[in-house]
Amino acid sequence: MSPLLLMLLIGLTMAPGVHVARGSDSATHPAYAAAVDAAEVRLEEYGDGRIVDITHAYRPDLPAPGRDGLGPVTQLTESMANGSINNVSELRMVVHAGTHVDAPGHMVQEHFEAGLDVNKLDLDVLNGPALLIDVPRDTNLTAQAMESLKIPQGIRRVLFRTLNTDRKLMWTKVIDTSFVGFTEDGAQWLVDNTDIKLIGVDYLSVAAFDHLISAHLVFLNSPGIIPIEGLKLDHVKAGLYTLHCLPLRLLGCDGSPIRCILIK
Ligand SMILES: *[C@@H]1O[C@H](CO)[C@@H](O)[C@H](O)[C@H]1NC(C)=O
Ligand SMILES: *[C@@H]1O[C@H](CO)[C@@H](O)[C@H](O)[C@H]1NC(C)=O
Ligand SMILES: *[C@@H]1O[C@H](CO)[C@@H](O)[C@H](O)[C@H]1NC(C)=O
Repeated sequence: MSPLLLMLLIGLTMAPGVHVARGSDSATHPAYAAAVDAAEVRLEEYGDGRIVDITHAYRPDLPAPGRDGLGPVTQLTESMANGSINNVSELRMVVHAGTHVDAPGHMVQEHFEAGLDVNKLDLDVLNGPALLIDVPRDTNLTAQAMESLKIPQGIRRVLFRTLNTDRKLMWTKVIDTSFVGFTEDGAQWLVDNTDIKLIGVDYLSVAAFDHLISAHLVFLNSPGIIPIEGLKLDHVKAGLYTLHCLPLRLLGCDGSPIRCILIK
């Protein structure tokens, strides 16, 4: 077969999953706009743009808590090159890296003892209508910022796109503690004043670094609320979508990698 024909064939078979780059509709902070490299923030679309993948690929240089980047997550344990009948890999990774979900037992001992692991997360909360909104780029997710967003009552799932996306923090191997997240009062405001049960953020922690435990606890103490962290929200238009998120059924586990998609 000629190399050209081969390339054409490969091109055709890959067409349904083709990655489409699009202009940004988000309110990119001017200071970081220049840093946005179109090749790296490709929007991943399927079905002529009807389905948008908002999950980060598990790259070795993803930032990961307590280590120098995520590192390789799969490793061959059987190899055809070594005479096996097939190639078989095993998976090993910290569950709080990349796009992932926290279980209530992550930080609350009584929930852990009550068995509130990632397998008990409610798929009804993890799947349904969701609002993707832009947070003003000059603030953390404080009570004041939450109030200013004027999220309509009845909305149960919100994905917050913040300065983290503009700063491309998920493409920076070293954890940057100046990321935007919830302050304790912001988390409390959301619990007290909205119907939100699913909170999506664009960096590894739903809580800002200065409120790491306190803001996490506001959410994790309310076992009905599910935080999804490390979402890939580059170049998706703000608006209302159908969200689908599915964690792995890791028994007894405090978190899980999660695949999240938006459907228009
Ligand atoms: C295959 O064999 C080589 C050489 O013995 C070894 O270094 C490698 O780890 C093996 N790989 C697997 C997946 O078994
Ligand atoms: C299997 O793994 C070997 C490395 O051990 C690699 O050279 C080969 O291309 C792989 N084959 C398949 C079919 O994945
Ligand atoms: C958010 O809070 C962190 C500390 O937790 C701080 O370093 C950062 O500058 C704040 N970001 C904004 C946009 O206010």
